[in-house]
Amino acid sequence: MKWYDIFSNFYDSSLERLYFSSRKRAAELLDLKDHLTVLDIACGTGANFKHILGSSKNIFLYGTDYSEGMLEKSQSQIERNGWNNTFLFQADAREINYSTIEIHIKKKIKFDRIICVLGLSVIPEWELVLENLIEMLEENGKIIIVDVFAEKRDFNTWLVEKIAKADLNRKIWQTLQTKTSNFHHEYLPVKESKVGGKLFVAVGTKTQI
Ligand SMILES: C[S@@+](CC[C@H](N)C(=O)[O-])C[C@H]1O[C@@H](n2cnc3c(N)ncnc32)[C@H](O)[C@@H]1O
Repeated sequence: MKWYDIFSNFYDSSLERLYFSSRKRAAELLDLKDHLTVLDIACGTGANFKHILGSSKNIFLYGTDYSEGMLEKSQSQIERNGWNNTFLFQADAREINYSTIEIHIKKKIKFDRIICVLGLSVIPEWELVLENLIEMLEENGKIIIVDVFAEKRDFNTWLVEKIAKADLNRKIWQTLQTKTSNFHHEYLPVKESKVGGKLFVAVGTKTQI
């Protein structure tokens, strides 16, 4: 059993209040419209779903994570809310790319939007994963990352890293900036002491294939 299978039992009750408004902001920046296809990578309990689907009933949403426990919580949300166009698959993010996507969702597709909230600080080989995500975007598609970077490390940084199995030293937005256009980055109003560093949102557009 993975740590996140256990964490899934108290993940939302301990963290959702902290991250709710940041998820909302991320969904705003995604610039969602009807009929878009969205991938939520390392989707966890599906806490982003209501923000992504809130603005439109005709969005096709794929959520993926490697933890069965987290995906079970996502599945419960989908059933509770009757979201018909929302699909889940279990996979290690390192194994998801344009060549393998068909194995996971039985379709060879690219995505209009990709979102990853608090995933790339946890997933090993995150640079490769980010590159593969950008490859899976349609031209003019947007990718949005919400994550934490610890500019000054302290006890809270250490604690969050232990609990979340994260590495808060990754300058994820910088890599995103070099690989996308129309790049935008902003810090989100969450106390550093609560999340172990600065919570940021970064968004970029894929402009050349
Ligand atoms: C901090 S949680 C974030 C969950 C969710 N995105 C959110 O916003 O609450 C990190 C997530 O990354 C997932 N994860 C960790 N390593 C992974 C991997 N190699 N492939 C896919 N998911 C992974 C965990 O199962 C967990 O759900």
